[in-house]
Amino acid sequence: MKEYRKFRKINQAEKKEKRHLALAFLVCAAMLFTGGCTSENVPEETEDDTAKLTVVGFSEVGAESDWRVANTESMKATFTEANGYELLFDDAKQKQENQIAAIRNFILQEVDYIVVAPVVEDGWEGVLQEAKDADIPVIVVDRMVKADEDLFAAWVGSDFYEEGQKATAWLENYLKEQGRVHERIDILHVQGTEGSSAQIGRTKSLMEAVESHGSWRLLGSVQGEFTQAKTYEVVRDALDKGSIPDVIYCENDNSMLGALQALDEKKISHGVDGRVIVISFDASKPGLEECKAGRINLDVECNPDHGPRVEAIIEQIEAGKTPEKYCYVEETCFRPEELTQEFIDSRKY
Ligand code: AHR
Repeated sequence: MKEYRKFRKINQAEKKEKRHLALAFLVCAAMLFTGGCTSENVPEETEDDTAKLTVVGFSEVGAESDWRVANTESMKATFTEANGYELLFDDAKQKQENQIAAIRNFILQEVDYIVVAPVVEDGWEGVLQEAKDADIPVIVVDRMVKADEDLFAAWVGSDFYEEGQKATAWLENYLKEQGRVHERIDILHVQGTEGSSAQIGRTKSLMEAVESHGSWRLLGSVQGEFTQAKTYEVVRDALDKGSIPDVIYCENDNSMLGALQALDEKKISHGVDGRVIVISFDASKPGLEECKAGRINLDVECNPDHGPRVEAIIEQIEAGKTPEKYCYVEETCFRPEELTQEFIDSRKY
């Protein structure tokens, strides 16, 4: 692999050389019309810096949430020329077929590494095999892929199931504190993108908790797709049907913002002093602001700052080491009483 990489870099240098020659030819051609071509007109040969850059192709899910935007920023801020990288960024607009096309394109361009934040878990074996055949290491970030472990070098992201468990454990405790253990608790579940790890893990925790608490009842699961606009619509429609939930379990902050919009429109109180308990995930700045204001009860952290983590994996591979296959990020959760403006402002995302 190391040898191959050395070869690829020499190859990149050759390609750059060809680009220089082509540029010189174009300058000369232009000079023919304006007064001749001398050696002074040809751009000076400088040390080929870009040949030394490590080329990273990154296929991002899209821009569906504040979390996602922060994740993109983290990757862009890490994989800069100043840090020794050339980043080829592709926004898949929430479509797996776009991600597969982007990965094929990265393979054609002979990038050094492919990084993918997969929209869903299934359907990756084929294209990952193509990357492996081209001897390009793939690093999976954020959500997982259901594929043979030999097809990717490493994964880094959150334990979405554990995040869900933090949320349901908090709810159990909160209801106990309020003396509502035996009361029937109706839960409206706002699901994220179906088939994504974040949805699968957070949903699994909720379903298990509903199953194990005799008094908890699932009013319904609606598809919020991790976006504010879609969640606003589906929660508004659910509220229109009549029953007001005791709890809304939103699978990310942007969904939560959509749910609050629908509740506010119907003048249904929520949060610390309200009628509806609201739980959210991400702990992005907008989410924490709502939490600090007491408009939601809990925000479970999901950390998007993966750029430096992916870089650490690349550095290990470059050093000839084998990175850990799975790397889980440590996360916490936030309640209104713990939050200060200073803390929120100090966070990156
Ligand atoms: O996969 C991470 C999830 O995807 C985040 O919770 C959500 O905000 C994003 O869209």
